[in-house]
Amino acid sequence: AHVWRGVIREYADRLPVTEETRVITLGEGGTPLVEAPKLSAHTGNRVLLKVEGMNPTGSFKDRGMTMAVTSGIADGAEAVVCASTGNTSASAAAYAAQAGITCAVLVPNGKIAMGKLSQAVAHGAELLQVEGNFDDCLEIARKLSENYPAYLVNSVNPARIEGQKTASFEVVDLLGDAPDFHFLPVGNAGNITAYWKGYKEYAEEFTTADGRVLPAVSTKRPAMMGFQAAGAAPLVAGYPVTEPETIATAIRIGNPASWDGAIAARDESGGRIDSVSDEEILEAHRWLSAKEGVFVEPASAAGVAGLLKMHEAGELPSGKTIVITVTGHGLKDPQWALRAADGSDITPTVVENDVVQVAAALGLA
Ligand code: F0G
Repeated sequence: AHVWRGVIREYADRLPVTEETRVITLGEGGTPLVEAPKLSAHTGNRVLLKVEGMNPTGSFKDRGMTMAVTSGIADGAEAVVCASTGNTSASAAAYAAQAGITCAVLVPNGKIAMGKLSQAVAHGAELLQVEGNFDDCLEIARKLSENYPAYLVNSVNPARIEGQKTASFEVVDLLGDAPDFHFLPVGNAGNITAYWKGYKEYAEEFTTADGRVLPAVSTKRPAMMGFQAAGAAPLVAGYPVTEPETIATAIRIGNPASWDGAIAARDESGGRIDSVSDEEILEAHRWLSAKEGVFVEPASAAGVAGLLKMHEAGELPSGKTIVITVTGHGLKDPQWALRAADGSDITPTVVENDVVQVAAALGLA
């Protein structure tokens, strides 16, 4: 039987490692590509969800972090540092713990979900809440790594992009070819950059580090469809947003580091980068939980919100294969599930310890 060995060993030919590399892995990747029958029927397409919440720390960040921490160890790093809206810090802390090195994380004060904060602390990170937003945290993290002995594991580190591109390989390996469209949320824009790199590499011959030529795996490349939160949509505006705001704290980012990568992915693929409102994000979040059985954190629903928005506007073709990455697990930030569409709180009904009462409360009697 084939045991999944993590993205570095599974895709070693296409990553910057050798047989001697000490690989730091938690078995990330190999995540499910789940059919979404309700979204498919609603839009007249075949819609599949790449469920990245199934990674070891609950988000897609693990794909990049196995590669970044592995590269850091190869460089002799004894400490890694990152800025984060939460998921990167959870992932960096876990991989650093396994590697036996120190992890410092900078997060925006009060703007990160409790699940993510708990993970970083549990894995032993030195966590500081900075009085500023993610963009401020990233600037400090960059300066720290330039002037102090700390290895930067944000997606400005090319190793992160290399690891994350494996998600595209998995999609093609599972579908047999690239989809027609790939939808995903966009924050700091590392992931859309990585997916596009992966799809491009799989559509061409690839020369390995030791000079072997691998044939193309796919015949086509998807249009890349990125969605930002409306209050934090610098790529849509065309200029940085100084005070980004959205309930989707994971993508509350005003000046994406991989700006050029995102624009290139859009333009080279014939795709688009657009925005969705917080209400559209929460509606997509409810759709995923209630109709598809897939629980995600709010930011992760931005790609689905984009799909629904385009469908409503009559801008979506039919009969296509559409993959949507849902980036992080619902348990990261569960409070939104207890909020109804009208904004009111959902509280479970309390009943007597009695089967007749329970049956009545359930409408069965
Ligand atoms: N979805 C989730 C759940 C995220 O945590 C992030 C980014 C994104 C989408 C956007 O991906 O930045 O590559 O465009 N989270 C980062 C963090 C910023 O610090 O965890 P991106």
